[in-house]
Amino acid sequence: MTLREDDFQRLAAVIKTKYGLNLYGKKFLVQSRLTNYVLDCGFDNFTEYFNSVYADSSGNEMANVINRLTTNYTYFFREEDHFRHFKEVFLREAEKTVADRDLRIWSAGCSFGNEPYSFAMCMDDHFGFRKSWWDTRILATDISFNALRMAQKGVFSPQSVDNLPPRWLDKYFIKQDNGTYRIQDQIRQSVIFRYHNLMDPIIFKKKFDLIICRNVMIYFDEQTKRELIKRFYNATEEGGYLYIGHAETCPKETGYKMIQPAIFRKM
Ligand SMILES: C[S@@+](CC[C@H](N)C(=O)[O-])C[C@H]1O[C@@H](n2cnc3c(N)ncnc32)[C@H](O)[C@@H]1O
Repeated sequence: MTLREDDFQRLAAVIKTKYGLNLYGKKFLVQSRLTNYVLDCGFDNFTEYFNSVYADSSGNEMANVINRLTTNYTYFFREEDHFRHFKEVFLREAEKTVADRDLRIWSAGCSFGNEPYSFAMCMDDHFGFRKSWWDTRILATDISFNALRMAQKGVFSPQSVDNLPPRWLDKYFIKQDNGTYRIQDQIRQSVIFRYHNLMDPIIFKKKFDLIICRNVMIYFDEQTKRELIKRFYNATEEGGYLYIGHAETCPKETGYKMIQPAIFRKM
């Protein structure tokens, strides 16, 4: 089934406005990711299917499109510089400065949960028995309901835990009869998964000590990225940090100061 140029242009415009994702130049990717689903739904062509998506005021069908079009690639302890900074700088400073012991950490664009769970394991390892003195829950958000559902389950394939040091695998995962690995309840419960579209205003009650948004903005254009970083800045505590992907950039005028590549601070 072929995706007509006008259908593609309309979809790309809607998705860019609503979700920030830049699909221009990716027509064949869109076609290949949606064709089987559209046929399974009983449509003969994309035009009819998209008309039904735009007419669905519940937003459920657009959510199905998003589930298929987002790239959710992720893995545990991706970009290890951030974990080094987190353990050696962020947590040590936070112990001295966060007076109410309520650490505010947000993994924005968390995909299947590997990212927030990696930071949650680091915190557990760092605090040890002192963890109960702190609120170390991590907010983890995404626009893909599929990714969020899987993240919430906390079950991972043998391949996806491959790069974990054996000590961490033993400490934080339970091998199940079918060969998959389930993250321990204590870690799973320390991550709160929610739907949040990064194009929307940030209305969480308190500001964040650390915002982690890695490998998400690569799919956004410059203006969308600049506006998002401004919103992040306003939602960051004084002295708080922003981690972005190493392949991403943070425009200077947003107010953050670069501490090292991919690590920024509000000061
Ligand atoms: C490539 S994954 C990165 C996952 C993780 N941060 C990492 O670095 O491994 C990008 C994630 O961003 C999410 N995403 C894309 N656009 C988004 C938006 N507008 N709001 C929230 N999440 C979004 C996608 O659904 C996907 O799960």
